[in-house]
Amino acid sequence: MIISRRKLLQSLSVLAAAPWFLRGVAYAAQPMRIGVLGAGSLGSTVGSLWVKAGHEVMFSSRHPEELESLTRELGPRASAGLPVAAAEFGTVLLLAVPFVAIPQVGHDLRHLYAGKVMLDSTNPWGASDSEVYREALDNGVAQTVNRYFAGARLVRAFSCVDAYVVATSGRRSGGRIGMPIASDDPLAMQVAAGLVRDVGLDPVVVGNLAAASVFQPGGPGWRVHLTAPELRHRLYLPADA
Ligand SMILES: NC(=O)c1ccc[n+]([C@@H]2O[C@H](COP(=O)([O-])OP(=O)(O)OC[C@H]3O[C@@H](n4cnc5c(N)ncnc54)[C@H](OP(=O)(O)O)[C@@H]3O)[C@@H](O)[C@H]2O)c1
Repeated sequence: MIISRRKLLQSLSVLAAAPWFLRGVAYAAQPMRIGVLGAGSLGSTVGSLWVKAGHEVMFSSRHPEELESLTRELGPRASAGLPVAAAEFGTVLLLAVPFVAIPQVGHDLRHLYAGKVMLDSTNPWGASDSEVYREALDNGVAQTVNRYFAGARLVRAFSCVDAYVVATSGRRSGGRIGMPIASDDPLAMQVAAGLVRDVGLDPVVVGNLAAASVFQPGGPGWRVHLTAPELRHRLYLPADA
């Protein structure tokens, strides 16, 4: 999807109305209980960094026994379970399953994520003729996930960076990577910003869920792996976003 400069500026205009506390302020995240839905490359990387930052994390898989070596290595703040257990455990959730699984996971866990902050990292990446891919192409990725996870306090986060880059951002010679985040929920965005900092990245508040199109696949912020100032410049964001 190619996004015009006009559409980009329109969608970013919501940022001008963003409350001051979302702009350029450092957040000190308190230790939290986080449920990771999908502990593959992205989920296990981000979740492991959260454990190291002091959070309690339950990683999930349909085969949780396969996560035993990961959790043993991470120590007592890490555990493993089925997706339903992780969704129950977390006051905050990270959604990191393949995009084709979105409708099924959204339906299966619908009684568990309502009212919870959910960081959504998913993308319709690669070829698929599934209905949910078509929907994301037509309506936007964020809006599609939001529809299948109605009631969750959704924040697009960790979606447009490579897991390897997340793992190495803190010790990168060119400076920490900027992570675009977007949400319709200001307080959920604040929680997400703290959790982004905790893994060694700098949050860049892009705007509401509609504005997240600028960093979905095909957008100018997709997998660019820039520092926060470079990313703001690329996305026409103010310096304190
Ligand atoms: N890899 C990256 O660098 C990266 C970066 C940014 C965003 N993302 C996004 O993150 C998501 C995951 O990508 P990934 O590369 O981490 O994939 P992955 O390595 O294949 O991991 C996918 C995880 O989802 C779980 N899963 C699959 N189907 C499921 C279902 N129906 N119900 C519950 N859990 C299910 C798998 O666990 P079991 O099969 O064991 O249940 C596995 O732990 C994708 O949407 C991707 O676009 C990835």
